[in-house]
Order: sequence, then C-alpha cells, then structure tokens
Amino acid sequence: MRQRVARLATADGDGKPHAVPVCFALASASIYIALDEKPKEVPASRLKRVRNILENPEVALIADRYAEDWSLLAFVMVRGKAELLDADTGEHDAAVRLLRGKYHQYETMRLEENPIIAIRPERAASWGALGKPDASGPGILDTIHGRRSVRRYLEKDVPGDLVEQVLEAARWAPSPHGRQPWRFAVISREETKERLARAMGEEWRANLEMDGQSTEIVEKRLEGSRRRLLEAPVLVLICLYLEDLDTYPDAERQSGEITMAVQSLGAAAQNALLTAYDLGLDAGWMCAPLFCPERVVEALGLDPKLVPHALLTLGYADGDPPKRRDRKALDDLVVYRD
Ligand SMILES: Cc1cc2nc3c(=O)[nH]c(=O)nc-3n(C[C@H](O)[C@H](O)[C@H](O)COP(=O)(O)O)c2cc1C
Repeated sequence: MRQRVARLATADGDGKPHAVPVCFALASASIYIALDEKPKEVPASRLKRVRNILENPEVALIADRYAEDWSLLAFVMVRGKAELLDADTGEHDAAVRLLRGKYHQYETMRLEENPIIAIRPERAASWGALGKPDASGPGILDTIHGRRSVRRYLEKDVPGDLVEQVLEAARWAPSPHGRQPWRFAVISREETKERLARAMGEEWRANLEMDGQSTEIVEKRLEGSRRRLLEAPVLVLICLYLEDLDTYPDAERQSGEITMAVQSLGAAAQNALLTAYDLGLDAGWMCAPLFCPERVVEALGLDPKLVPHALLTLGYADGDPPKRRDRKALDDLVVYRD
C-alpha cells in the first residue's frame, strides 16, 4: 500500500453510501486517516464521514492503481470497522507520527487537535498486478541511466525555478548527523563567470607548467576549461561547510567526520544532477575548484569558511548529448557474501 491516496467509503445509519479520497497510513493492525483542516473549515465532528462512522462503523477503503498499460492495473480493498481516536492518546500520537512520516505536508498541520480515523481491518480483497512497480512515470533507474555529463551548452537561459528545484534536490541529500555540511553558490552573470574562470585558470596554468606540459597544450586546455565555464548558462558551486560537524579529540575520528561530509557533498551533487536531468536540463561536473579553493573563495567573495569542491554546469546540451559512457558490469563490482 505505497499508494498516496485511497477512497474511503462510509454509510449512514440508513446505509446511504458516501465516498471520499483520503490520505492514509498503514500500521500492522490498523489504517489511519487524519481529519485535517482542508475541507472548508468544517469542524471535524460535522464531516459527513465522521457522522457516518458514529452512526455506522462499517467502512471500506480502496487503494488502486490505474495505468494505460492495463497489465499494471491493481487494487486492494479493505473492509472493517472504523473508530475515532481522541487526541492526547498514545495511539493518536503514534498515528500522527506515521501520517507525518508518509506525508511531509502534515508536518505543518495541527493534526494533534482533531480525532484520527482508525480502521480495524476485518477482510481484504485484492486484484491485479500488485507486485509490479508503479509505472505512472519514468522510474528512477531510467533517470539514472539517461543522465550523462554534458560539456557544451546552447546559449539558452535556464529558468530560475528549475535551478531552485535542482538546489532543493541537493538540500535533501543524506548527510552525517543531518548536519548538511555543504553550501551552494549560484553563478549566472557573465562577469562573475569570467572572474571565476580567470582565478581558476591561473592556478591551473601553474600546475600544468609544473607538470612540464608544453605551452601549446597548456593554452589549449585552459581555453577549453574557460569556454566550458563561460558557455554554461548557470554554474552551481558546491562547497564543503565543516563548522557544524562533530569534533573529536583524536585525528582519526575527526578525519572520518570530514570524509563523511565529503561523501555527503557527493550525494548532494548527484541529487542535483539527477534532478536537472529529470527536469529536462543537462549538467556536468567540474572538479577544478577543489584544486584552488582559496582563489575561488576570493574571486566570488564567499565566506572563507566555505571550501569549494565541485562546480556543476547547468544548461541545455548543444547538439546530441554525448554517448553514454559505459560502466563496468555488476559482476565486476559486487561480491555476495551470504
Ligand atoms: C568527483 C568528480 C569530478 C569530476 N570532474 C570532472 C571534470 O573536472 N571535468 C569533466 O569534464 N568531468 C568531470 N567529471 C565527470 C566524469 O568525467 C563523468 O561523470 C564520467 O566520465 C562518467 O560520464 P557520465 O557522467 O556522462 O556518465 C567528474 C565527476 C566526478 C564524480
């Protein structure tokens, strides 16, 4: 029952039916439905479903899936008796926690004050392809397989709300102790990109020369990198922010803490890349800031506590997206130890 919405059927004392769409949460022996403030500010006790339950506790709840591919159609129907859980009881509190866990929208609603409907199931019937994954949209694996690094962009603006959604996805990455040890700088103005490209270019030039690269190669690589920065409509610089991490007296644990922060930065970056792709954008990852963090902080006028790590380019690919870069087979990457 991962379905987000179900239909609750109740009947009054005369057996007259009534059905409403509901959000629900499933526990081992009960199904919970909140009475939130949504419906026209009617007091909860006046809602038809509540009056019906008080007159006649017999209810049915149906959660179904429709898909154009009819081999995926499915439903589950539960019949049972409903009761109203009063606020300030242990079960009411547990039900509120369950409902909030499933629907984040409930976090800001005052569910504590209203009774919760608890259905005690007596019979269940089901039909269809319950075991098959939901096919209502492209699955996450399609998104993962489809994304690829893009290094040339069209001169086409990226709407601000799309950039915001990409950042929103990054914000929800897992992080050590939930501390979110990263911050993002968004760059879209030409002069700022130019300043950044110059700052990183100087450092890279010094490094390439130190490696003994010929002047011609150095210039070519620098020009390529500069072009990438200037052509990308939007740059998102992901910085490590270590101020909120736990501190330890020993170096080993402290270094583990920092490694976790870097791992989490990677998760934020991947959330951003996948969401960009899902929104129809293209994106790429440049590691250059990692090698000259102070210069980047200075060029962008950032808080010195930020440590620039990854630069994501965002835009629309110029031409076909690059061919998918193949991956090692799972057999080469995984061992099973039963
Ligand atoms: C930590 C990290 C740093 C990367 N740095 C660069 C970079 O500096 N320049 C670049 O062109 N691609 C960079 N990439 C992108 C990889 O080259 C790319 O992900 C890889 O070749 C696989 O291709 P795909 O992303 O198209 O699947 C980086 C990726 C990661 C995870």
